[in-house]
Amino acid sequence: MMLTGRPGTTLTSRVPSRTELADRCRDIREFGLYLHIPFCRQICGYCPYHKQKFEDRAAAEYAMAVRREIDSYGSVVGPRPVTSLYIGGGTPTTMLEHGLPGLLEHLRGVFNLRCGVHMESHLNDLSEANLDRIEAMGVGSLSMGVEALRDASLRLLGRPYTAEAARQTVRRVMARGFECVNVDLMFALPGQSGEEVELAARELVDLGVHQVSAYPLFRFPYTRMGSTGRAGNHGLGQILRRRRMLERLERAFAEAGYRRSSVWAFTKAGTPRYCSVTVPLYIGLGASGGSYLPDVFYLNTFSVAEYTRSLGEGRLPIALSVDLTRRMQMAGWLYWRVYETAWTRSDFRSRFGSSFDAVYGPFVRALRAAGFCDDDGDRITLTNRGAYWLHALEDALSIASIGTLWGAATKEPWPQRVAI
Ligand SMILES: C[S@@+](CC[C@H](N)C(=O)[O-])C[C@H]1O[C@@H](n2cnc3c(N)ncnc32)[C@H](O)[C@@H]1O
Ligand code: SF4
Repeated sequence: MMLTGRPGTTLTSRVPSRTELADRCRDIREFGLYLHIPFCRQICGYCPYHKQKFEDRAAAEYAMAVRREIDSYGSVVGPRPVTSLYIGGGTPTTMLEHGLPGLLEHLRGVFNLRCGVHMESHLNDLSEANLDRIEAMGVGSLSMGVEALRDASLRLLGRPYTAEAARQTVRRVMARGFECVNVDLMFALPGQSGEEVELAARELVDLGVHQVSAYPLFRFPYTRMGSTGRAGNHGLGQILRRRRMLERLERAFAEAGYRRSSVWAFTKAGTPRYCSVTVPLYIGLGASGGSYLPDVFYLNTFSVAEYTRSLGEGRLPIALSVDLTRRMQMAGWLYWRVYETAWTRSDFRSRFGSSFDAVYGPFVRALRAAGFCDDDGDRITLTNRGAYWLHALEDALSIASIGTLWGAATKEPWPQRVAI
């Protein structure tokens, strides 16, 4: 649903050739890049992202394989501008001394990079020396997972630092000249009060961070916490508790002059937002990287060993793909705009050449009637209430299909077909 915009889709093992991809890219004006670094120093029990424990050798081999994958796209996209670049994980900063700066340099040599670099990091990797490396790589927007500013909550999550160490690291990062520093927080943790969450938000505002992304704890069935935890995500009590905490965050950030920049993110006025790939068409590099090119979505193998092996043998590491109809692309576009909480009719028209209202008029009328959006004729902006409930609905609809796809791709490096 999230990937294709409709329920009941099947991804198959068909691998588009380089020629086919080059052909599909013939008319694109710009595209984004996502690079996945699948290593972490420790594995957190709640985390759904694709990762494995860091090892020097695997990281060095991985860096080599990513170089090959980058090379394989050179002739596919040619000099078309890359207008968004995101390095995520896992933990990208595990590879700061294991090939990441060289990879970025290589990427600049092959692609026509016309944008800043956004990257995720782990707090324990942000020494002064590593911050020098990060700046030297040209990273302008940095995100760090602080998660909480109370020791009991950090212990519950198994995070390897104290609240005081987190504050010090945030100060160290803020003393640098990043264009945007994002801090991740987690809320609705067991035993956590609304007051704790609000205090953490206010502290981060006082520390001057440009953006806070506050995610409610989600239990993904294929994580350690998800398989052993008792409380689910979708019980009414849990949904209302999350909503109450989010309301406190909305108030705290509005008072501090931050604007809402997605369902879960608040950005300081006058600062560009920190976010993952911002353009609709993108190529995902690395194990588990997903790519969205004209009329097709495809996913690389999740297995780091198989990813490395296939590129070593001169093959693209694509494991699954699905062709997308126009209607599926429209629905996929709308899914992400709902996540960002705003969109314009003119953007839809320039992208798809049709009237937004001809396709989604009844949907917007229902949103307006429920008080879920404001509409100025072109721009549709979700209200706080609309953003929360629409996203809860999207989550409820998509979490099962994401679980199925992730489950299959994690278990089997080259699945034959996955119905979601
Ligand atoms: C890739 S991690 C951030 C970078 C780095 N790996 C770290 O842990 O510091 C992305 C973010 O997702 C959020 N996250 C991870 N698992 C989550 C879950 N089960 N529920 C809600 N948020 C989660 C956390 O806020 C985390 O900082
Ligand atoms: S939360 Fe971050 S450090 Fe922990 S396992 Fe997930 S990606 Fe790795």
